[in-house]
Amino acid sequence: MLLEIISLKPLYTALYCFFLRMDFVNNIIGEELKIFEKKFTDSVKSQTPLLDRIMKYIIKRKGKQLRPMFVFLSAKLQAPINESTYRAAALVEILHTATLVHDDVVDESLERRGFFSINAIWKNKIAVLVGDYLLSKGLLLSTSHNDIEHLHILSEAVRQMSEGELMQLEKARNLNLKEDIYFEIIRNKTASLLSSACAVGAWSTSKDHAIADRMKLFGEKVGIAFQIKDDLFDYGNEDIGKPTGNDIKEKKLTLPLIYTLNTIDAGTRRKLIYIVKNENKDAEKVRYVIDTVVKSGGISYASEKMNNYRNEAISILYEFPDNEVRKALEDLVRYTTDRKY
Ligand code: IPE
Ligand code: IPE
Ligand code: MG
Ligand code: MG
Repeated sequence: MLLEIISLKPLYTALYCFFLRMDFVNNIIGEELKIFEKKFTDSVKSQTPLLDRIMKYIIKRKGKQLRPMFVFLSAKLQAPINESTYRAAALVEILHTATLVHDDVVDESLERRGFFSINAIWKNKIAVLVGDYLLSKGLLLSTSHNDIEHLHILSEAVRQMSEGELMQLEKARNLNLKEDIYFEIIRNKTASLLSSACAVGAWSTSKDHAIADRMKLFGEKVGIAFQIKDDLFDYGNEDIGKPTGNDIKEKKLTLPLIYTLNTIDAGTRRKLIYIVKNENKDAEKVRYVIDTVVKSGGISYASEKMNNYRNEAISILYEFPDNEVRKALEDLVRYTTDRKY
């Protein structure tokens, strides 16, 4: 209880900044987001007491809900939102939540959204089953309404996410130093869901494959920028509601470090690799790696790449008519790379 109270303050500060920043989006889809929250809550309800308790815990600690925002705005860019758009948004957020629960088991991470992760409280066995339960609830939501196209788009994303997370584990074993592999991993593990969110949203109102595909590519660019930003957070000291410095502990080489290793002198490179391999739990050594990455320009390099992806996303968006929905989507894209958590 005490720990919960201690960790509440930064979360509230972050939420406050978030709502200030997101006014524009709220103006356009504020009502839809309220209805979505109710649908999300109803969709994950359980009669099993333990699951019911865990679902309440998850619902109370909701995240930024960026993916439902992308679903609604991508839908509204084409035509007014309908019932199937709500189900698409709920499905996407349920799948996202399931993958976070599993990801914290895989990454042995004990903090999520400013609180304890599911595995921190209920341990791995229960966390794995909770992730599976959420996945099944997502599928049931779609099958019970015959949302075949939603299932088609999202099943593909789930496959890619699993492959991306697995590839990341495999590459962590022999320390991946290649940029193209890094991009393949993040395209699969993160961008796939964001791109599907945009595709399914656009599909729900347009029923047009060409439009859904274009929005999918837009979402993929946003998703890549989004994960680079997440990886940059890991090199910072800000309170982002989850641990920082965790990627190095898990031997995950992300873009800032990959750049540094590929550009720095051989001696320092050997030293950095030794730390990541053998001393990744030593806070002081991890600090040295982070400082070296900052000094050698790894952060600026990754930020530049991130901004390039953001710009590519915005240029795809500009193929659509200029209106207030497009403006809100552009702001949401900019928020993805400028956010504070
Ligand atoms: C976290 O996603 C997982 C990644 C793909 C990096 P978010 O940062 O969108 O998580 P919440 O839902 O807001 O907590
Ligand atoms: C994203 O990668 C994980 C998923 C796609 C579920 P991370 O492992 O970096 O995400 P965080 O930092 O734990 O949220
Ligand atoms: Mg993780
Ligand atoms: Mg991360």
